[in-house]
Amino acid sequence: MKHDSATPLTTKTRTRFFSLLALAAAAALLASCGKKDSSSGDNSGGGKSAGKKIVVGFSQVGSESGWRTANTESIKAEAAKRGIELQFSDAQQKQENQIKALRSFIAQGVDVIAFSPVVVTGWQPVMEEIKKAGIPVVLTDRAVDVTDDSLYVTFIGSDFVQEGRRAAEWLAKTTGGKAKIAELVGTPGSAPAIDRKKGFEEVLAKYPDMKIIKSQSGDFTRAKGKEVMESFLKSPDAKEITALFAHNDDMAIGAIQAMEESGIKPGKDILIVSIDGVRDAFKAMADGKLNCTVECNPLIGPQLFDAVDAIMAKQQLPKRSEVKEGVFEQAQAAAELPNRKY
Ligand code: AHR
Repeated sequence: MKHDSATPLTTKTRTRFFSLLALAAAAALLASCGKKDSSSGDNSGGGKSAGKKIVVGFSQVGSESGWRTANTESIKAEAAKRGIELQFSDAQQKQENQIKALRSFIAQGVDVIAFSPVVVTGWQPVMEEIKKAGIPVVLTDRAVDVTDDSLYVTFIGSDFVQEGRRAAEWLAKTTGGKAKIAELVGTPGSAPAIDRKKGFEEVLAKYPDMKIIKSQSGDFTRAKGKEVMESFLKSPDAKEITALFAHNDDMAIGAIQAMEESGIKPGKDILIVSIDGVRDAFKAMADGKLNCTVECNPLIGPQLFDAVDAIMAKQQLPKRSEVKEGVFEQAQAAAELPNRKY
């Protein structure tokens, strides 16, 4: 039908014309609701139509420690509580697995992607792909090294440098600033391993009689912590070790086993300070085998999904939020044990 504005329309033609116009407008509105704006790279989220389940893709580091198990449980439980669909993927401590998971979340078109990066470097390309797809990113627990901080909305986690400082301060206070230290480092290239070492050494620099005489990665696992401690204890200068700093409780517990098997009294012959504050560390402290644990709180599920909700509601979020944490010594262990939530 040719429509000429100069030609008067009949009532029937006019009704049909306006009905078609209304249909076209409704279709355009529906299409714009379901689409993320990828052309502008806007990954601030929002625009979710009411009644639809929010879908979050979460890529977890692995299941290397008691801390990690508690972290996973906190995230899964909170998603279930809020009726959020969680696409959960365990990377088994491998960056390539995490990158694959992130790409599959893009392909699925999830609403928000969250991940705890196993190492700090190598994320820029995949995070640019996520941004191009218009999907907002929340980093939990571990940070990334990227040149463009618009690649993620917010980071939720701990101050690992401060945790390292707290461990060293405790050791300095307890030994009067004299110690020959064996160090069990976390996963090489990971934020907690880099930052805890940095904080620990920063404090050590003030004490000339506190020295790290052995340092090796135990990959944050109990088995590797035991294996590395066994090799420390077999070295010619093993008898000089007076203290152990383990970047997490699991490696400290593995090292305790190694010490006991070679006739050394953990917590007495060698003082032990580690990080996390998991229940097993409190048990080891109550048994007198571990001296101090610096808390690193894994229960960040509620904070993560508060952030997801805020993103979906197009609210502003701080670039970084930290979790409150304490330091626990042997004397507090028995009383504190029943209160531990992880
Ligand atoms: O990133 C947090 C660290 O990772 C925890 O200290 C450790 O136990 C875990 O594996």
